[in-house]
Amino acid sequence: TVYYYRDRFIESGREVVPVEERAFNYGDGIYEVVRFEAGHGVGLTEHLERLRNSAEAIRLRLPHPLEKIREIVVEAASRVGAGAVDVYFQISRGEAPRSHAFPDAEPVLALFARPGKTYTDEFRRAGVGAITVPDERWANCWIKSLNLLPNVLAKQAAVEAGAYEAVFVRDGFVTEASASNVFGLHGDVFYTAPAEREILNGITRRFVIAAIRDLGYTLKEERMSAAFFEQEVEAAFVTSTTMDMMPLNSVNRRKLPPPPADSPLWAVLNRMRELSR
Ligand code: PDD
Repeated sequence: TVYYYRDRFIESGREVVPVEERAFNYGDGIYEVVRFEAGHGVGLTEHLERLRNSAEAIRLRLPHPLEKIREIVVEAASRVGAGAVDVYFQISRGEAPRSHAFPDAEPVLALFARPGKTYTDEFRRAGVGAITVPDERWANCWIKSLNLLPNVLAKQAAVEAGAYEAVFVRDGFVTEASASNVFGLHGDVFYTAPAEREILNGITRRFVIAAIRDLGYTLKEERMSAAFFEQEVEAAFVTSTTMDMMPLNSVNRRKLPPPPADSPLWAVLNRMRELSR
């Protein structure tokens, strides 16, 4: 693992964070995760743009111009190697004596990069399980903030239920999952929640939507009711930087059969990969 903190690459990711760091004390910051494949940062420009939007949303000044952050991220990925690499980077409001209002402090970039987990086609055909959980998060989930306690608790509930991902339900409708966006497939029609305040507008989600449109399938960017999602979709999948498209093989008690070879799901997966290259 490659580590960067404040202004330089460091040997170890341990014992560098001041106790009165705002990320640490308040979760007062934002982050991104980018996947590199053969030296190419997938959607890197979009990730950096989203970082800037998240920063603006919480009135956080970036410690460097976006181009400089891009250089550090690319450098970190290349230090790990040329295979699949995940770069996690966050910006916090910095170090200052603890007091809620904004401090007079320098924002801090912290980063780690390491080989990314990849999934075989076989694994993807088998899919992963999901459960639904109440979405108890705040009203600004479009901001990629460091505050992930509800996501952590939801994911843990999934793990304890023998599942892989937890799908959030708010007011009877699916929003997204603990660390991914959610799509349903019914006939040739794809469904996913619109990119409003209650979901993170995933970069993978955007590539998938582009692939769906490119292939001429219908996308309904509208919220699925929990009942529709749990009982009626023929296939469902989650999307994220680290998983790209991952089919679900169950939702709560209901089993979802593996999508057949001619399912639009696989066509979209292949097209999405081409588009994101
Ligand atoms: N998670 N929704 C949530 C709540 C997420 O945390 C993520 C990503 C996504 C998918 O966004 P993208 O396609 O841009 O990765 C949706 C990252 C990978 C994480 O926290 O590890």
